[in-house]
Amino acid sequence: MKTLTTKKLNADSAGLAEAAALLQDGALVAFPTETVYGLGADASNDTAVARIYEAKGRPEFNPLIVHLADIENVQQLVVWSPEAQAIADAFWPGPLTLVLPLRPGAKVSKLVTAGLDTLAVRIPEAPVARALLRAFGGPVAAPSANRSGQVSPTLADHVMNGLNGKIEAVVDGGRCSVGLESTILGLAGKPTLLRPGGVTQDELNTVLGKPIAARHDAEAISAPGQMRSHYAPRAHVRLNATEWEAGEARLGFGAVDCDLNLSATGDLTEAAANLFEYMIRLDASGAKVIGVSPIPHLGLGVAINDRLSRAAAER
Ligand code: TXA
Ligand code: MG
Repeated sequence: MKTLTTKKLNADSAGLAEAAALLQDGALVAFPTETVYGLGADASNDTAVARIYEAKGRPEFNPLIVHLADIENVQQLVVWSPEAQAIADAFWPGPLTLVLPLRPGAKVSKLVTAGLDTLAVRIPEAPVARALLRAFGGPVAAPSANRSGQVSPTLADHVMNGLNGKIEAVVDGGRCSVGLESTILGLAGKPTLLRPGGVTQDELNTVLGKPIAARHDAEAISAPGQMRSHYAPRAHVRLNATEWEAGEARLGFGAVDCDLNLSATGDLTEAAANLFEYMIRLDASGAKVIGVSPIPHLGLGVAINDRLSRAAAER
């Protein structure tokens, strides 16, 4: 793969116009959403989408999430339903992705769906993402803007560390406010939580008026990209550390003595926003092991524990 010069663009009108023009040309442009930075390409352009997989070093064709500015644009690509409308009313724009039946004839590359007859769609809330999507005017396929299997980026510098020379540009919009990937809700069959994330299962249950099924790793219906080992730093990750071991980097939560504290006050929203950045920082310290305090398994803690258990999984 030839080495490119990766431009850092400002998130102002000139920078966003340049980013939109690059996308129109089939280039790869990373941009901030409120969850994590996405690696964007024109979802209707096969070559551009294929380059996403190449730049990420993704071993296989996992389906990608398509990002749009408005609900009318979403409805052109998927088969809409009253359930989808209720969820969209409650959570869009925001950190939630819906998997819905792909509308026959929708102008989306087959590489986006990896041949499935469903499509993952999301309207992000971050103003920079929305402005870019409006300026581009079409569907933007975007996985998280990290090399495959590594920690997701919440800063433009994280994107540069992994993808410099492999993509045309990154729009620098500062830190992502949620810091964890979107919740993925499958609505192509019975409502199923495919990935925990920024919107909690309780919030979804409340809006749908019934409990939704949670995905189990063994089940055939799943988000295919949910591999066990994912979000992996170089260091080994030791979970539920109630005491620290000699030499390990200490990632704390709550009132504990540690190197970096996800939230000294025990706030799960703050902890989610800090998670990837702090893992990246402790990994860069060169420690062989990162110990992590226990995180309560409720609300956003479910998504945090999902990412931590993947970071700790056998590779
Ligand atoms: O917050 C996010 O969701 C970020 C930002 C950039 O939007 N994106 C993101 O994309 O996390 P990625 O590619 O890292 O994760 C997308 C997940 C994968 O696990 C993939 O398997 C699943 O979505 N997915 C995509 N399309 C699907 C489909 N049609 N059915 C089931 N799962 C799908
Ligand atoms: Mg990812």
